[in-house]
Amino acid sequence: MTSTETNPIARTVASTQSEMTEIILPNDTNTLGNLLGGRLMHFIDVTGAMAAYRHSRANVVTAAMDHIDFIRPVHLGDLVTLKSSVNRAFSTSMEVGVKVWAENTRTGSVVHVASAYLVFVAIDDQGRRLQVPQLITDTPNEVRRHADALLRREHREAESARRKEARHAATAQEDAAALQP
Ligand SMILES: CC(C)(COP(=O)(O)OP(=O)(O)OC[C@H]1O[C@@H](n2cnc3c(N)ncnc32)[C@H](O)[C@@H]1OP(=O)(O)O)[C@@H](O)C(=O)NCCC(=O)NCCS
Repeated sequence: MTSTETNPIARTVASTQSEMTEIILPNDTNTLGNLLGGRLMHFIDVTGAMAAYRHSRANVVTAAMDHIDFIRPVHLGDLVTLKSSVNRAFSTSMEVGVKVWAENTRTGSVVHVASAYLVFVAIDDQGRRLQVPQLITDTPNEVRRHADALLRREHREAESARRKEARHAATAQEDAAALQP
């Protein structure tokens, strides 16, 4: 296989689309019999990574997961389906969107229970960051998500700078307090 085949200049959003379905078992639930939030975040991380792998064809690490609204509880015995695709490829990072539905196996009703955006970074076997292929958008929805992903990146960067400044200020205050006689 040539390097052009393993790392093409661009890939379509459709080629990154990934899906996972899980049945919710007792080990996945809290004392009320509802899916644990942390378990759902794990499913989201894994399904998001699938899309990032498909786009980059490389190792990926999760750099960030944006806040998640757990819109409705998921119950023991429900089938949870997660769908993901890359929204935008930057230089070495990719934003992936994940949407989650729960299906009641008795009634067949399907409800949207959560959505999340994650950022994955492609790295080689030595842990060095890798350029990712460009992303080709084909549909109006893909074009909209692509544009929105840039706005979210700007928001993430601003938030990250704000948190960093707050951390530094807190550390400086603690250091000053520690030096007090
Ligand atoms: C993510 C990681 C590779 C970034 O490495 P870094 O040396 O800080 O790299 P940089 O700051 O130069 O950023 C590299 C890319 O990651 C993106 N990135 C870094 N931190 C980010 C964050 N918190 N949120 C979103 N994107 C982020 C940058 O925007 C940049 O993207 P680009 O190349 O497409 O422009 C590094 O922080 C890491 O390895 N983190 C641990 C990852 C991990 O273990 N994940 C599982 C945790 S449970």
